[in-house]
Amino acid sequence: MSGPLLSARGLRLAFGGVKAADGIDLDVMPGEFLAIIGPNGAGKTTFINMTTGYLKPQGGSIAYDGEPILGLAPRAIVRRGIGRSFQLPQLFAEHTVLENAALAIAARSGLWSPLTPLLRPAWRAEAMAVLERFGLAPLAEARADALNEGARKLADIAMAVALQPRLILMDEPTSGVAAAEKMSVVETLVRVLREAKVTAVFVEHDMEVVERFADRVAVWNQGRIAALGPPQQVLNDPAVLRDVIGIEPAHHA
Ligand SMILES: Nc1ncnc2c1ncn2[C@@H]1O[C@H](COP(=O)(O)OP(=O)(O)O)[C@@H](O)[C@H]1O
Ligand SMILES: [Mg+2]
Repeated sequence: MSGPLLSARGLRLAFGGVKAADGIDLDVMPGEFLAIIGPNGAGKTTFINMTTGYLKPQGGSIAYDGEPILGLAPRAIVRRGIGRSFQLPQLFAEHTVLENAALAIAARSGLWSPLTPLLRPAWRAEAMAVLERFGLAPLAEARADALNEGARKLADIAMAVALQPRLILMDEPTSGVAAAEKMSVVETLVRVLREAKVTAVFVEHDMEVVERFADRVAVWNQGRIAALGPPQQVLNDPAVLRDVIGIEPAHHA
């Protein structure tokens, strides 16, 4: 039996009086899709930032594939095999989708410069192959700032996948995506990540998405994990319904 791919222990980080992480313990198993839910300000993004090197916790440890990664810079963590996507997609607005993907691949190769990726056919070919997996090939020549929100989210995740991670952390991959296209966006990204055997942690506010696509759910509240388990268990927990999802359990109906 293999151990956890990601293992966080006792993570603590306070901003002034706000405890954004107040003793976070979490194991993410290889191959699983773990959803993080919880109210605004609970510390969900802080957890992703600590895991990807953007924030340094004041206490605790994080191991990836059995090796400590705390204190490594974001680029070094990417090189270890951890990718991320952002709540607000980080694309070069004036470049095409294909150029953005080629830039990501060039960055992986460590040969980034503003012009080289546009000149290297191998990077463009690999970039095109990644876009095809996400159904984005028809938009390859579109400027990033011309995409709708669903395509922008997918393109941002495609950039992370182009770096060939084994683990990806996605911060609200469906936020801002129109209701009509939300499920197809999630279906696409789940299909690509499952095909590539990428383990996923994703912050999500849509409980239907969580129920359909998460193997486990972690409930964040005030810098702590308030509940952790399979969706059908966690999403039916009266305390979670009341404190996190904001609906009274139906016993009085
Ligand atoms: N860089 C920062 N500086 C100061 N306060 C921060 C910073 N990052 C997060 N916080 C605070 O930490 C708490 C948790 O934030 P965050 O992790 O973004 O929550 P969530 O993603 O769950 O909405 C919030 O009170 C937020 O204002
Ligand atoms: Mg957040």
